[in-house]
Amino acid sequence: MEFFLDTADVDEIREIAAWGILDGVTTNPSLIKKSGRDFKKVVAEIASICDGPISAEVTAMDTAGMIEQGLALKAELPDNVIIKIPCTPEGLAATKVLTEAGIDTNVTLIFSAAQALMAAKAGATYVSPFIGRIDDTGHDGMTLIAEIMDTWSNYHWITTKVLAASIRHPTHVLQCIQLGAHTATMPAKIFRQLMKHPLTDRGLEGFMKDWAEVEKAGNA
Ligand code: E4P
Repeated sequence: MEFFLDTADVDEIREIAAWGILDGVTTNPSLIKKSGRDFKKVVAEIASICDGPISAEVTAMDTAGMIEQGLALKAELPDNVIIKIPCTPEGLAATKVLTEAGIDTNVTLIFSAAQALMAAKAGATYVSPFIGRIDDTGHDGMTLIAEIMDTWSNYHWITTKVLAASIRHPTHVLQCIQLGAHTATMPAKIFRQLMKHPLTDRGLEGFMKDWAEVEKAGNA
């Protein structure tokens, strides 16, 4: 499974990239706002830290505007930047055109298996179903991941990857893995939670204490 960071904070990206297991980064207009930085400058810096796919989102609402922005982002930013497009009829049309131009896309704001299939038909490289935002409405977001994986198993022509997004806790990630989702994008906090276990900390503390005794005895 690919692990992406969902942030535009370059310090966090550097921290997690140093672990050696970061496969990509997703941004969106809200995360760019939170960074307080210039959109293209911050995306270019992110793309220099992580050589996997970096999603940069278009903000036009019409097909022509999305295509224009997508082409401009691809022309101005490093090669590993991919174009994030909202799951609207206009976005589908833009995805189709950009795909035919050889540009990778991430179709975002997916809340149903039907939307995911439509985006796959348009040639999306990734589709992003939002788990946490469905949970927030009192429904089970994980059901959507299960439904997409199940539906897609009937259609072997689909090469689009399922990028589970809006992840709120480590259990979401584990459930996505069990369901076979290709990619999960998550905040740095979840990466840290996935690595943390009190027994690892306690075990290491014990080993280090005993090793100090070994050194003291001149047996190291
Ligand atoms: C995905 O690409 C989105 O940026 C993100 O996962 C949205 O998550 P949120 O619901 O926590 O804002």
